[in-house]
Formats: sequence, structure tokens, C-alpha cells
Amino acid sequence: MVCMNTNEIAELEKKYEMNLYPKREIALAKGEGEFVWDAEGKKYIDCTTGVGVAILGHAHPAVVAAVSAQAAKIMTCYQPFYHEERGRLEQKLVQLFGGSGKVMLSNSGTEALECAVKLARRHTQRKGFVAAMNAFHGRSSGALSLTFKDKYRAPFEPLLSPVARVRYNDVEALKNAVTNETAAVFLEAIQGEGGIRPAKPEYLKAARDICTDKGALLVMDEVQTGCGRTGKFFAFEHFGVQPDVACLAKGLGGGVPIGATIAREEVASFTPLEHGTTFGGNPLACAAANAVLRTIEGERLLQKVSENGEYFMQKLQAALAAKSEYREVRGMGLMVAVELKVPSKEPLTALAHKGILALPAGEQVLRFLPPFIISRGSLESVISAVAEVVK
Ligand SMILES: Cc1ncc(COP(=O)(O)O)c(C=O)c1O
Repeated sequence: MVCMNTNEIAELEKKYEMNLYPKREIALAKGEGEFVWDAEGKKYIDCTTGVGVAILGHAHPAVVAAVSAQAAKIMTCYQPFYHEERGRLEQKLVQLFGGSGKVMLSNSGTEALECAVKLARRHTQRKGFVAAMNAFHGRSSGALSLTFKDKYRAPFEPLLSPVARVRYNDVEALKNAVTNETAAVFLEAIQGEGGIRPAKPEYLKAARDICTDKGALLVMDEVQTGCGRTGKFFAFEHFGVQPDVACLAKGLGGGVPIGATIAREEVASFTPLEHGTTFGGNPLACAAANAVLRTIEGERLLQKVSENGEYFMQKLQAALAAKSEYREVRGMGLMVAVELKVPSKEPLTALAHKGILALPAGEQVLRFLPPFIISRGSLESVISAVAEVVK
């Protein structure tokens, strides 16, 4: 096959792809560790990782080996048949969740949320949901019902109802919104798409108490925060709160699509065929996820995420403190935002020219989701480039 340049690839996608994604005019061709290369061979430090997906970096040998070996054996194994990789992954996820529970494996974040939505109604026999303002929970109809932005929801109404939308980190608002009709409260421990906004510890603790008091489930959406992104496997561990249900996706497969919904044993009330998926729990994705989880443990990556996250945020703060366009640095672990007083679009483009790929998270936020294996040297390069593009 003849290799195309960026313009040729862009032309193809623009001609044949539904018009859904604002494109960056960069065609990625390969990746290794924290680096990616475009179709012309330009090298970038990747602080996007496919929106927090390639947590071990690109082409990590453990993931490549697991996927290659599994692909050569069997890639599909519909769930009525057992498979060792699936069983092992489910066991590990339950251990990480706290030692007791049940798992439903799927293929994406929105599916992990969709399962939680159905499970909450199934278990409580109630209809209502509570979600936070500025929350993002996905784009399939159930998950979309919980997502905040009107722009995403309005064209597709009517969606699920009733959904009460409360101010994030406002305990009183949550207290007033959760009733005896509430099936579940859905929260992110750090709002990701909402601009990297961490919950206050007292807020999540109160959410736990309110849900217990009213008989509603507390569902933590850990799609972006989970798998160690914040320095703990689940971000809720920082807050001393145990939810009834947790949703994972993004980083779990290290690049291979997978979603997981993990529920306390007592609330995992589905009966056969009430929910399901053809691809969910396939051996390829499970083998990748098992390799990711083994590597996180084996290479003590959670500690590295915490240490490097602290270092990154402190150095960013110091480098930007005197800049007139700079507002604040916030985040946890390697989930880091630089909020500006100006739109982030131009600085993002300027960073890409300097060989740094980062993400937006709202109008004025630069978001950094580097892989857990990123070196201090690469973090230094990112900090210098950010200091150059922010005025
Ligand atoms: C917190 C959160 N939940 C759910 C989703 C949806 O995940 P997916 O895009 O895999 O469907 C996302 C995606 O960004 C997310 O950040």
C-alpha cells in the first residue's frame, strides 16, 4: 500500500466520514511510548493519548505481546462460552473495587454507563436520576440523558427522564434533588470534559450518605479518572468513599476498546439476557486489559503517576505564574488542566507546532492526559512549550 500524506488522508476522511469531529489537521501514523509521529514523520509528545486511553504509552511491549498472542489464538468468544482472560479480568476488577462485586464487560465508556443506568432502574425499581451540571457521561441515549451540555442533548430529546441536574460540589442541592424516586446519582470524582474540576472530599462523602439514606445507588463514572489516572486505581479512593457501581473504559485496554461496569454484589440484580453485547468481554480486549493491569502493578505506575503529577503541576504553576493569560493549574495525578483567561484553541495549535499534543476541556482550558510512563525529560519539554505559548 502506498502511504498517503496528511492532506490526502484528510481529503478522504472529509469526503466519506460523518461530520462529527472538529479535526486537528494532523494524521497520526505511529506511536511509541509517549511519542507519536504524523504522516510526514514529525514527532510529538502525546499528552492526549486518545483522550486518556494509551495509559502505558503507545505500543507498550506488554500490551503488544498480549494482543498478538491472543489474536493468534482466538479473538471472539461470545459470553455464553467461558474464557480464561475474561474470568481473570473480572476477578481482578472486583479485587480492585474492594473485594466483592460483579462485572459487566462492554466496549466503551458510554456502554459502561448505559449498563449502570439500566442496573439502577432494575435494582431500585425507580425511574429518576440525578447528575451534575457540566458532567459528561457519554453519548448513547441513556448516558446522554445524564450528560449536561444542551448542545449534545437537545437535538435528541426526548431522552430518559426524570433527570435532576445539580450544581457540582453543592451538598444542599444534592440533598434536595435526591428523593425516594431516585434510582441513582451519577458523579465523576473529577469532572473531565467539564474542565478537570475535582470534587470536594466532603461532597462525595455527603453524596454517599444521601444515597444510602434515600436508597439510591451512587454510581461513580471513572471512565476518565479510573485505571490509575489520578494516582489511585479509582479516583474515589482518594475520597474514602465506596460507590455502589463504578464505570471504567478509556485506559483499561491500553488502546484496545473495552468498558467495564462493576457493581456491589447486592445490587447486581440483572437476570439472564436483560442486558448484553456481542463484543463485550472478547478475549482480545480482556488480554489487553489484563496486560495493562499487570503492568500498572508490576512497574508501580500509580506511584509514578502521583509523583510525576505533583512535579508537573508545581512546575507548570511556577512557569506560568507571571503570565497575563494564565488563570490556574488544577488536577490530580496525570489529569492536569491549565485554565487560561483566553480561548485555548490558539495555544493548542501553537503547542502542536512545537511538537506537543494536548487537548481542550471547555473553551479556555488546556488539558494534559499524558501516558503514565512519560519521562521527566518529556514533562520538562511540555512545561517549556506551554510557558512559551501562554502570554
Ligand atoms: C467521564 C466520562 N464518561 C463517559 C465517557 C464516554 O466514553 P466513550 O467515549 O468511550 O463512550 C467519557 C468520554 O470522554 C468520559 O470522559
